[in-house]
Amino acid sequence: MNSYGSFPGARPRRLRTTPAMRRMVAETRLHPADLILPAFVREGVTEPVPIAAMPGVVQHSRDTLRKAAVEAVEAGVSGIMLFGVPEDAKKDAVGTAGTDPDGILQVAIRDVRAEVGDDLVIMSDLCLDEYTDHGHCGVLDAAGRVDNDATLERYAEMAQVQADAGVHVVGPSGMMDGQVGVVRDALDTIGKEDVSILAYAVKYSSAFYGPFREAVASSLSGDRKTYQQDPANLRESLRELALDLEEGADMVMVKPAGPYLDVLARVADSVDVPVAAYQISGEYAMVEAAAEKGWIDRDKAILETLTGIRRASAKMILTYWATEVAQKLARGL
Ligand code: PBG
Repeated sequence: MNSYGSFPGARPRRLRTTPAMRRMVAETRLHPADLILPAFVREGVTEPVPIAAMPGVVQHSRDTLRKAAVEAVEAGVSGIMLFGVPEDAKKDAVGTAGTDPDGILQVAIRDVRAEVGDDLVIMSDLCLDEYTDHGHCGVLDAAGRVDNDATLERYAEMAQVQADAGVHVVGPSGMMDGQVGVVRDALDTIGKEDVSILAYAVKYSSAFYGPFREAVASSLSGDRKTYQQDPANLRESLRELALDLEEGADMVMVKPAGPYLDVLARVADSVDVPVAAYQISGEYAMVEAAAEKGWIDRDKAILETLTGIRRASAKMILTYWATEVAQKLARGL
């Protein structure tokens, strides 16, 4: 009760009465330019190969990747994050295909750059798991453990071949200590001061990467718990973040997104560089699977997950729905 009227005195529902009113007072907006499309390209195929655990997502052929890049540009998407899927026979213990100038990722970078030039920010995953026969993100020591410093040497070479191929941004995602610094040095050494680093600063060891393993045909047995972070920890993220910034990260990323919105909000509060979030394969698959069963409204669920990630302060969002959502936003949905 207040002195101006009857109970209840405050009626927040007034600001929810019409679509126009709700649009006006919306605190969070999605924009195509905030979206980045992760895309897989597979060596040796002429047709795209569907990924069963990610309905609607494919392993592109070189040709369809170029088309997907053009489509993304037309929809207003800002960037594309490329992942290479080499032929099985090309995988080995040290991930040679990842540093081959003619390896699939490097070829894809050149293709996309030739197709869309600077109209799209071309980013590349800088990690060994797509190229190693054991599926780990680094090289192994004699005891079978991921060898941090030997892996850094491989990352330095990867950064250079990716930069030579014409990438705008590299995304070191292997969670090795010192990776950002080593990659920065490697780029600067060959005169690629302009190539930026999107650091996977905060990357958790997550069950939601499951479908991605199919997407890149990873043969990993075991897990990545000795290098990726424990989902229980937040303070550790802030430490990882500080180290990556000190080593030269231009942008930082939190991954996965949905189950880590608190981390995302804390990270965004504590840095002055652009912050990205990666809505990963399992987050995508959950919505698609439930929608396929008719248990949720697919389009509304997609927008709600992305709005939540924006609200938690991500500037950029990597999402497999990037092009579709950008097209819908352009139509005012
Ligand atoms: C590492 C990498 C992974 C993803 C992106 N980069 C896999 C992992 O860390 O296990 C996962 C992306 C997704 O699940 O959508 N190269």
